[in-house]
Amino acid sequence: MKKTLLFALAALLVLTLFAGCNGGESNTLTMATNAEFPPYEFMEDGKIVGIDAEIAQAIATKLGKELKIENVDFDSLIPGVQTGKYDFVMAGMTVTEDRKEQVDFTQTYATGVQVIIVKEGSKITTADDLFKEGANTKIGVQLATTGDLYCTWDIEDEGLGTVERYNKGADAVMALNTDKVDCVVIDNEPAKVFVQNNPGLKILDTEYITEDYAAAVSKDQPELKADIDKALGELIADGTVKTIIEKYIPAE
Ligand code: ARG
Repeated sequence: MKKTLLFALAALLVLTLFAGCNGGESNTLTMATNAEFPPYEFMEDGKIVGIDAEIAQAIATKLGKELKIENVDFDSLIPGVQTGKYDFVMAGMTVTEDRKEQVDFTQTYATGVQVIIVKEGSKITTADDLFKEGANTKIGVQLATTGDLYCTWDIEDEGLGTVERYNKGADAVMALNTDKVDCVVIDNEPAKVFVQNNPGLKILDTEYITEDYAAAVSKDQPELKADIDKALGELIADGTVKTIIEKYIPAE
């Protein structure tokens, strides 16, 4: 009797260990982001926090998975998800037709607006000023973001101005502070944070373009995409996403 019990216990232990090992792989969901984008993702006390981090955690919890967050350059997010290095991306990432050819997007969970940051008293007062013949504006952007893509296509390629690309939005803002660029085109929420931290800068009232943010998943992972989409849909429906967003962006 004692022996049988011991044997059973030992067997159970081995099984648990096995499950633990296996689970280590399949029980973790790796989300990649670029934590240079407050309030969606940023570093605080050495930790990645923000709207996307919290929504991703809520998704992982719903799916019964452990969440791991990787902080990488914005332009390596899509390649990383394509090669399976990361399970999904949440990075205030705008859904665009080009990106849709590379990855699958979930439903959208937030809206972004590309805005223009200038120094107080700047000659640039509306978005149209960037498109004027001979304006020759130097525009700072974060590399590979939609701000970069649109300004490259609409302005640089048209010979109307030039685009300076930085690895971090904050570096583009620093360049504006030191007059290396004339303005910065970036999403509205990080823009608000950067302007708050840099006296003498302001956001123009005119908007460049409005966009939708969604999570990105590899095209080879339709089931994962469906799982994340379903979890996200439930979190939107029950108000969790709204609560998380309002925690970081108090309603005006
Ligand atoms: N919404 C813009 C885009 O998709 C900028 C996103 C930047 N996000 C970040 N975590 N740095 O291109």
